[in-house]
Formats: sequence, structure tokens, C-alpha cells
Amino acid sequence: MKVAIGCDHAGITMKNEITPVLDELDIDWEDFGTNSEKSCDYPDFGERVSEEVSKGSVERGILICGTGIGMSIVANKFPGVRAALCSEDYSAKMSRLHNDANVLVLPGRIIDGNTAGNIVRVWFKTDFEGGRHQRRLDKITAIEKRLNK
Ligand code: RB5
Repeated sequence: MKVAIGCDHAGITMKNEITPVLDELDIDWEDFGTNSEKSCDYPDFGERVSEEVSKGSVERGILICGTGIGMSIVANKFPGVRAALCSEDYSAKMSRLHNDANVLVLPGRIIDGNTAGNIVRVWFKTDFEGGRHQRRLDKITAIEKRLNK
């Protein structure tokens, strides 16, 4: 599975903490920055990763900022992106089972690296349940189409 990962300055530490977990899961990941502690704007990096997911050049994305809120707002602007902000395992699991989330957003300033690593493990190991949840995702796609007219 190909995964794009990106963060702002508030997410670098966590990005470096979770990439070994991606290696452990044998995931082919690509870093879309930032790689500097210098203050930057989260929309720039959220856009890069979300664009890759939206156009289908990667299957999933991971985004990290301080709260995860800014990155979530950016990512969910992109057609076909279903970004889920997760601070614990249960939300991570449900975002895959029920929402088929394809972007995981993590709050770099709220949870620690171990918690983030466990969320990443759960998120990648959980498959979408389909069934009635697919019908709901189809409705989201229909809304996207209507709004983009
Ligand atoms: C950066 O200070 C901070 O605003 C950003 O990382 C994020 O939390 C925005 O939602």
C-alpha cells in the first residue's frame, strides 16, 4: 500500500515517531514535508498529501498538525478524501470500519508518540465493513458531486 505523509512544524516530531511504525507494517510511504522546525502553514502540506489521495496516486494519507483540526479542514475539501482526526484507538478503528477513512489525521501536540503509533497500527489493520456504510458513503459522494456543479 502506498501512503503519503505530511505535517506542519507542530507535527514533525510525531511524523518521525510514526514512520518506523509504517516500516514495521511494511507500508510504502512517501514524505511530503515539512521537514523543518521553522513555522509554516499547514494548508500547504495538507494540500500536497490530500491531492495525492484525491487523484488516486496513493491509497491513503497521514497528516499531522498541532491539534489535527487545521489539517482535517483542508483534507476534507478534496473530492474523495475522507479524513478522520483520531486521538485514540476506538475512533481510529471506527473511522475505517464505518467511514472507510482514507486520511488519518493526528494531533501532534495532544497525544504522545506511543499513542499515535498504536492508532496507526489499528487504522491500517482495520478494513471497511461495507454494507449499510457503503450506502452512506455513496450519499457523501452524491453531496460532493452536487456541490461541485
Ligand atoms: C500551528 O501553530 C497550529 O495552528 C497548527 O499546527 C494546527 O494546530 C492548526 O490547526
